[in-house]
Amino acid sequence: MSIQSIVPEHIRGLTPYPPGKPLSELARELGVTSAIKLASNENAFGPSPLAQEAMQASLSELHRYPDGGAFYLKNRLAQSLNVDPAQLMLGNGSNELIELLIRTFGSPEHGVLTSETTFVVYRLISTAAGIPFRAVPMKDLTFDLDAIADAIDTSTRMIFLCNPNNPTGTRFSREALDRFVDRIGDEPILVLDQAYVEFVSEADRIDAFGILARRPRTVILRTFSKAYGLAGARVGYGISHPELVDYVNRVRQPFNVNLLGQVGARAALDDETYLQRIIDATNTGLDLICDALRQLDLTPVPSFTNFVLFDCHRVAKPIYDALLKEGVIVRPMHAYGLPNHLRVNVGTEAENERFLSTLRRVLSAL
Ligand SMILES: Cc1ncc(COP(=O)(O)O)c(C=O)c1O
Repeated sequence: MSIQSIVPEHIRGLTPYPPGKPLSELARELGVTSAIKLASNENAFGPSPLAQEAMQASLSELHRYPDGGAFYLKNRLAQSLNVDPAQLMLGNGSNELIELLIRTFGSPEHGVLTSETTFVVYRLISTAAGIPFRAVPMKDLTFDLDAIADAIDTSTRMIFLCNPNNPTGTRFSREALDRFVDRIGDEPILVLDQAYVEFVSEADRIDAFGILARRPRTVILRTFSKAYGLAGARVGYGISHPELVDYVNRVRQPFNVNLLGQVGARAALDDETYLQRIIDATNTGLDLICDALRQLDLTPVPSFTNFVLFDCHRVAKPIYDALLKEGVIVRPMHAYGLPNHLRVNVGTEAENERFLSTLRRVLSAL
């Protein structure tokens, strides 16, 4: 008996996420001594030493389940964000929170609205959950908030805005978001995904907390995976109205955030000096990469994150393939409808140099 006949149609149409090979395996296959990965917007500098120490000190506790309520991490986060712990939701990465929000509030009649060319997980999860998903085109590779507001109808339960946006690196302004919020009213849940917020200067940030204060159906999503360098520990958090958080907590699994992640995230919050060093090094690396790309007559899209999208002014796949052969992994963008673009994240100084020197060689050979 075939399995296919019992799989719901919205699941049948899904394509499995292709897992990347371990870097050492890939280097062996390519015949290079080492490969570098600049494709997943990770933090190349590693977690804070304080976080590493705290996690190491917790290894002997791993026979215990984690604290399902994440009491200490929530209290520490509440203190640094100046919110009540009841306003916080924690996830196995903010990816899980995106899933929990869609599963908690979506229905076959009430779905998700967002932009094209944004974080692919909004679409993946909506589709897998059988929840309607709509995306409107971007304008100049930036969220077109007017077009999103125009597209709202009675089926719109949730709006996902990613700011700054992955994969374009662009942002919309505080004023544009305030106007948008006035237009959309109080009905839809507004999710502000701020995975890269730590890289944005205070002057350039949206007023997410101000919007939450005047509009309870707002969720701010953040993560320890990017600036805090804890992608492998899987901790993301959301801030919202306690009533909304309470419903998400009913759907979430009791032990969704692991013990090491909770301990590491808490310690990382205590290491502000390290966080600032990461942000400074990332900004320096980003400037260096963008300058070098321009010198190569490629066009970087202005970025407010730890990565940059750039236009190669030709089909980018051969450049991607040639970089890969030399052990430099970046992200091709054809799946996003941008066949001429590549996305690269800032690495360590040595990784940035290797990316740029390999790119120079590849371009002159092509
Ligand atoms: C915009 C955006 N949101 C959320 C995430 C998810 O991050 P995590 O699940 O690691 O917290 C990412 C990761 O790349 C992202 O780019």
